Amino acid sequence: SVRNRPITVEDYRKRARRALPTMVWAFVDGGAEDEITLRANRSAFDRWRLRSRVLTGHAGAGLSTKVGGVDLSLPVFLSPTGMTGLTHWTGERGAARAAERAGTRAVISTASSYTVEEIAEATAEDHFFQLYPWTSATTGEPLSKKFIGRARQAGYRALFVTVDVPVAGNRERERKYGMGIPPRMTPLRVLDGARRARWSYHFLTKQRISSRMLVDERGAAAAVRSAKAQESLMRPDLRWDDLARIRDWWQGPLYIKGILDPDDAEAAMKLGADGVLVSNHGGRQLDGARATLEALPAVVDRIAGRIPVYLDGGVRRGSDVVKALALGATAVGVGRPYLYGLAARGEDGVAHVLEIFREEIERTLTLMGVASVAELDRTHVYQAPPT
Ligand code: FNR
Repeated sequence: SVRNRPITVEDYRKRARRALPTMVWAFVDGGAEDEITLRANRSAFDRWRLRSRVLTGHAGAGLSTKVGGVDLSLPVFLSPTGMTGLTHWTGERGAARAAERAGTRAVISTASSYTVEEIAEATAEDHFFQLYPWTSATTGEPLSKKFIGRARQAGYRALFVTVDVPVAGNRERERKYGMGIPPRMTPLRVLDGARRARWSYHFLTKQRISSRMLVDERGAAAAVRSAKAQESLMRPDLRWDDLARIRDWWQGPLYIKGILDPDDAEAAMKLGADGVLVSNHGGRQLDGARATLEALPAVVDRIAGRIPVYLDGGVRRGSDVVKALALGATAVGVGRPYLYGLAARGEDGVAHVLEIFREEIERTLTLMGVASVAELDRTHVYQAPPT
């Protein structure tokens, strides 16, 4: 049957669902516990309306912004996702290349399927690195320092330190469908995988599944063999003071990812961070946490223009991007949207998803009568009346 070409991020979501084994889908699309925060990230956007001015004479909207000291021609970057090779064998290499084609960048996860060196080799531009502040449980070795060294050596431009994983989130959808380290296979699950012929063929022939980045690092390698070993690297005892060392080890732009509270935004500034990323890990950590768009205004107010504020979580439309920027974000990250594109059509799928964002943002701004994303502020949005 001839299927229509996808025209929205939601279309890519449906395609991805069909392309992926149920177990992998649970990993990509699921959140923590009752998925209240996961849904709230989406619905928070519906509570804002856009100001519309007509006959402003602005033909064509400017979309450029700056992230990690790099000029982007699209205010949307790829947030880090671990084990991206699970969705498509090209993994972070395909995703980062697509980001470049769209004039933006990818943040590469500590748990990436390809190593930072492999990704650097496959791309033309320098991307960003996401760091989990892990310590080896057996040797006490600060793995962060090694990861930072590798990222610097490989030419990465900015560091995003993820602070919202003191322990693993309770992802019940993953548990229900056997997704884990290692995955729990049953005959039915094998069959379910086999039904996704293209995915299974790549799974068997390319073997780009777990995290090569972790396998490559002595002290972290055990984390790909057992969930327990991975949790043992996490540091629930970590404090803001401990991040000072990371700030010392990385001289380039440094962002704190996983901020929801203005007091934490303040602490990030005190640490000397160059910006914060308002995030709840896509609803995968604390269920019941605020939606990121809800949390954004107070963080923006506290930071008061001193450093940039980014946001991720639930961004699926150009109008979502515009709302976040109007409420004070400098740029937004997307996680699942590019995984949908990757699962459905590899690198081209990600490039198309980013193209959809570009077209939607442009059209939205023109319909609002706004000349560029740089002009957006709170006068461009209204809270919708309660229903
Ligand atoms: C993530 N996220 C994430 N964050 C991080 O700092 N390191 C990581 O390794 C991962 N891994 C990861 C895997 C998968 C499958 C998903 C969906 C997400 C969180 C990610 O960076 C981002 O915060 C959210 O995905 C944003 O929400 P949306 O855009 O997915 O709604």
